[in-house]
Amino acid sequence: MRKILSGICLVSIAGLVMLTPAISKKSEAKKIDGEVVFKQHCASCHADGGNSIKPNHPVAEAKELGTLATFKNYLSKPPGHMPYYKNVVDDKGTLEALYKYCKTLKKPKHQQAFEKTPKTAS
Ligand code: HEC
Repeated sequence: MRKILSGICLVSIAGLVMLTPAISKKSEAKKIDGEVVFKQHCASCHADGGNSIKPNHPVAEAKELGTLATFKNYLSKPPGHMPYYKNVVDDKGTLEALYKYCKTLKKPKHQQAFEKTPKTAS
């Protein structure tokens, strides 16, 4: 009887060990990389957080990044040339990852220099 029981124990331990890598792989696949989302959907116009169509509307440090709700609102009704990405806006995980990544962007150096130029210089 004892032998059978320990046999069952061994089998279930082996089963657990075999399952564990499968579980951790699954949670890895679920983690969304905001940088990848940005590169896929936004970088064509907003490379490095700038704006190749309207240079004075960069993503980096934009007021639209104030809160996640503001960001979602903006992406839900994008003005002008900006496409509407339903799959990004409707997926909470993707949207949050993208939002976090956008918040890390810094304005390109030349833009900062442009803005710092004193208006009275002539
Ligand atoms: C086809 C080009 C294009 C793509 C792709 C694009 N955008 Fe834009 N984006 C623009 C343009 C043009 C504006 C300026 C809109 C305006 O106010 O006229 C803009 C403005 C913005 C602004 C506001 C910046 C400001 O100062 O007004 C944010 C934030 C933004 N985009 C985020 C994103 C994100 C996030 C993505 C990807 C999901 C994305 N954009 C994809 C063209 C694009």
